[in-house]
Amino acid sequence: MASGRHSETAPSAVLPVRRLQRAVLEWYARHQRPLTWRSFPPEPYAVLVREVMLQQTQAGRVEQALKRFLERFPSFQTLAAASLAEVLQCWQGLGYNLRARRLWECARIVVSHYGGQLPPEPRLLQRLPGVGPYTAAAVATFAFGRQDLPVVDTNVRRVLQRLVGEELPQRVVEHARRLIPRGKSAEWHQALMDIGALLCRSRSPRCGECPLQQWCQYARNPVPSVPAKRVEEPSFEGIPRRLWRGRVLRIVAAQGKASLRQVAQMLFGQIPAARQRLWVRHVVQGLVRDGLLVRSGGILRLPREA
Ligand code: ADE
Repeated sequence: MASGRHSETAPSAVLPVRRLQRAVLEWYARHQRPLTWRSFPPEPYAVLVREVMLQQTQAGRVEQALKRFLERFPSFQTLAAASLAEVLQCWQGLGYNLRARRLWECARIVVSHYGGQLPPEPRLLQRLPGVGPYTAAAVATFAFGRQDLPVVDTNVRRVLQRLVGEELPQRVVEHARRLIPRGKSAEWHQALMDIGALLCRSRSPRCGECPLQQWCQYARNPVPSVPAKRVEEPSFEGIPRRLWRGRVLRIVAAQGKASLRQVAQMLFGQIPAARQRLWVRHVVQGLVRDGLLVRSGGILRLPREA
């Protein structure tokens, strides 16, 4: 009697896991991206900074920014002792400045609560500002050698979704957990990240070069996956809001303090239009809400250190 196995068994349960792991790790040994941080020992502070940068910025751009940041702030202590203005200054070009503020807060907490040492437990890591489940798993794996945590970023998720033909994020994470090779979690996850970035791209994937091809559901039947819902970032005059936020912060940082009106004038000229003033007000409100600016008596400044 037919067992019904093919329709009911989760695909990763029938994958030849060992062979597949070996194929991926061999591919990684030959084709990994020569990202600068891979040639240094994974020091927890540097891993945290890098993973926060990688949350929203591509690896190639993170390389340079990371070098600059670590030269300027080589430890939790130096970062905690800096002013937010200095940290934002060093973050320039990366965007999403809230990450910089949260990282700076992390440094202060690590120094004040943990004696300057990042705790290795994901549960404690996740309590730090700006550290969600992904970043906590990445830091625990890459910096502290945890072997049992799935590190599922966008690239890894896409690779595994296609491999097992599974869309549901929770199920993908279960597959991810099952596939981790013993003692090689850091290498394995970086290999999947590289496969996602170099071969298993969301558009025009290069299945012919992929070490997973022979087991991959997508390679056999390339149905387009349901695209993740993208939240459109608002923009003004064709420029995304995050860039406006960076501009406003730079103006206030350079001036030391400024009124809303001065900021609008520096952005749009002597007589800004009403909609331009409204836009500046909207951007400033967001920055104040995120703790990147303070407003008092109509004057904007960068927040003073606690
Ligand atoms: N994306 C997030 N973390 C990464 C890492 N360690 N290497 C490459 N890409 C990444």
